[in-house]
Amino acid sequence: MQRSASYTVLFAAVVCLVCAVLVSASAVSLRERQNENYYLDKQRNVLIAAGLATDHEKLTPEDIQSRFAPITSVVVDLATGEEQSDVDPQTFDQRKNSLDPKTSRSPGKNPAGIQRVPNQALVYRLEDDDEFGLLILPIEGKGLWSTLYGFIALDADLETIKGITFYEHKETPGLGGEIDNPKWKALWAGRRAFGEDNEPRITVIRGRAGPPSEDPYRVDGLAGATMTSRGVGRLVRFWLGDNGFGAYLDRLRKSKVKG
Ligand SMILES: Cc1cc2nc3c(=O)[nH]c(=O)nc-3n(C[C@H](O)[C@H](O)[C@H](O)COP(=O)(O)O)c2cc1C
Repeated sequence: MQRSASYTVLFAAVVCLVCAVLVSASAVSLRERQNENYYLDKQRNVLIAAGLATDHEKLTPEDIQSRFAPITSVVVDLATGEEQSDVDPQTFDQRKNSLDPKTSRSPGKNPAGIQRVPNQALVYRLEDDDEFGLLILPIEGKGLWSTLYGFIALDADLETIKGITFYEHKETPGLGGEIDNPKWKALWAGRRAFGEDNEPRITVIRGRAGPPSEDPYRVDGLAGATMTSRGVGRLVRFWLGDNGFGAYLDRLRKSKVKG
């Protein structure tokens, strides 16, 4: 049967409309679940950085929540280093704040190439019998192709690195993407983040570093991924320094000395 041209156009338009409605409806209905999964994945990565979970473990949402229970989330003012008890960590959106000129600032030219720093940041603390145990800090910055988002955990001495992990990036699998390789991440544990003057000193070198006891400030670079490796070193030093968590770390160091 011969159909008119207008029938064909109308038919195509109806099919397009139905598909558009289906896609929009599924996007809207899945958004909440996507947000939940994103949040859980971030929590899982905090646990990995803290050594409370491994990359290979299959964790249910309940596992993640129960392991996360001893961890306190705190919003910190980066300029003063003060903890902000009036800001709810649950609703605090650091990434959004970093983009808003009212809630962020320019750190000026820096080796990590970071353009905006939020005025406040969300950190995680693990306390052992009321004793400060671990500090887990969010870190982010440029690799080769993308912005890397992750966490670095410092031991109770606020000097020794406990772990590092990245939960979001678009580096090349097998090259820069090896920042996700548990073997590479394990090379960070036990190394020292700061020099004598409390300035960030940890570096990712080209080639291989020695063991932490002999070569505490250097981590192996990733083969074939010099740019990503360099980016990781720079972003870690940025966030541990004056433009990042420097003031907060100083405050914690002083409160530890006071006891
Ligand atoms: C398709 C492709 C993807 C690449 N991905 C990365 C990457 O994710 N991270 C990185 O540092 N270098 C990556 N590189 C390599 C760099 O472009 C560059 O060649 C390299 O950093 C220099 O070599 P080296 O890292 O062995 O010193 C990639 C190269 C190609 C061709």
